[in-house]
Amino acid sequence: MDGMRSLDAECVSLAYLDPPFNSGRNYGTVLSTSRPVKSETSHVFVDTWRWSDSTGRLLDELGEFVSKSVSDLVHSLVKTLGPNPTTAYLVEMAPRLSEVHRVLRRDGSLYVHCDPASSHYLRLLLDHIFGPDGFRNEVVWKRTHAHNGSRRYGPVHDTILFYTKSSEYVWNPVFEPYQDTYLEKHFRKNDDRGSYQLITCTAPGDREGTRAHYEWNGQLPPPGRHWAWRKEKMVEFEREGRLVHSTNGVPRLKRYSDEGRGVAVQDVWLDINRLDSHSKERTGFETQKPTALLERIVAASSNPGDLVLDPFAGSGTTAVAAERLKRQWISIDSSITACAITLARVRQEMNLANVAVRGFPRDADSARQLLRTSPEGFGIWGASMLGTVPDRAGTNATVVVGTGSLSSRSRSVEILSWVPLAESLDMSVPASPRRRLSKLALILRHNRSARVAESWLKRHTNTPVHMIEISDLVDRNAQRKGMNSKLPELLREAA
Ligand SMILES: C[S@@+](CC[C@H](N)C(=O)[O-])C[C@H]1O[C@@H](n2cnc3c(N)ncnc32)[C@H](O)[C@@H]1O
Repeated sequence: MDGMRSLDAECVSLAYLDPPFNSGRNYGTVLSTSRPVKSETSHVFVDTWRWSDSTGRLLDELGEFVSKSVSDLVHSLVKTLGPNPTTAYLVEMAPRLSEVHRVLRRDGSLYVHCDPASSHYLRLLLDHIFGPDGFRNEVVWKRTHAHNGSRRYGPVHDTILFYTKSSEYVWNPVFEPYQDTYLEKHFRKNDDRGSYQLITCTAPGDREGTRAHYEWNGQLPPPGRHWAWRKEKMVEFEREGRLVHSTNGVPRLKRYSDEGRGVAVQDVWLDINRLDSHSKERTGFETQKPTALLERIVAASSNPGDLVLDPFAGSGTTAVAAERLKRQWISIDSSITACAITLARVRQEMNLANVAVRGFPRDADSARQLLRTSPEGFGIWGASMLGTVPDRAGTNATVVVGTGSLSSRSRSVEILSWVPLAESLDMSVPASPRRRLSKLALILRHNRSARVAESWLKRHTNTPVHMIEISDLVDRNAQRKGMNSKLPELLREAA
């Protein structure tokens, strides 16, 4: 909440919220795709909201954060349904959704990712906050394959609610490529150029007296319609052999299957698969959404340069999609591990260019302070600043191990990182998911055990090992360039 409160009003073009769902599951912190996990040690977050004293206090103070009508609505829902995980979820979401409404621009959009068990309550809240006219879609995203539900239909979809702040919102229509079955059904005819369908040459509306109303082949457009193209264009189509005339002279245009933009995406999304254990982009963060899902949302509801906000960032998928589509972005999460994965992913995406961070060390002194107060937090921060995601299998109380990949020239280089936390180290080398990539091993040096790590690695891998200083990550030069010139040089050599 504090992160959002610090934002100016009306500065965000698109907000995507994927809050915990009330599934009651614990999501493991640790993060690795490189080895099977032996034991679970800690958690990033419990995917549930529980009614607690602090929920009761927030309910009492709700009027300070939301409008009276929203506060009245939440109070009446709590009164009707009682204090339970669902109403705790609503009490927590109401101020957050109101904050999002405040920071959205007039032409801004909101997407809330939820599950069908709670989407109807969220819609009540959102209709109050955005007004019923703000509702655009309830998108059904088929997120998983069919499975046998016990005594009910298998739940395979998530719900994504789409609202806009006004009717003047950014909208870039999105298309998906024609499916084979669609092509077979709709593009049945063929000529030398390929498969085509015949489409009408007229459009609705009588435009008599304009350049859209003329005689073609002795025919005027039918009453109430006009020609869809000016005469010059029709002549061009005819010259190209693209017009087919019926026996009574009505023209139709050949539209080839490779010309169309595809089929406009509707509100049921079946074409974006969930991440599975083979997905390259998988970080090991359990609720990680596919980048393709966020790319669709970001492309449809923002323009390059716009600011995209994700207040429940998780593994940073929104930031990665925004970065790829040249939007600015802000990601917020209450879990340091989630922030670290986000940071690692966007640092990889941006080839280590600088990311402004809050709540994470920004200079060498605060990094050392974090090491004293929270060695594990320091290790996770260090690994993510090196563009690597902390790896569950290799990480222990003495060292945080990370893996990632960065591009150099046109090649990818796999990065392995070690952040020593103790004098004596329990070292290991993560199994490589992509064996054939060039590798670079980086050690964050902040005490003497870095040398111990270095000599161990020299004995146990033939990957070149390099020391990186804390100042390489946070000093002014590194802040400006993302990292001092050493790493790009190392990457060039490795590629
Ligand atoms: C479902 S996950 C988001 C997954 C994300 N969309 C992705 O693709 O990785 C929800 C996230 O919300 C975070 N979270 C839970 N409570 C929060 C709070 N009160 N403020 C900010 N983040 C919170 C959790 O730490 C978790 O990372």
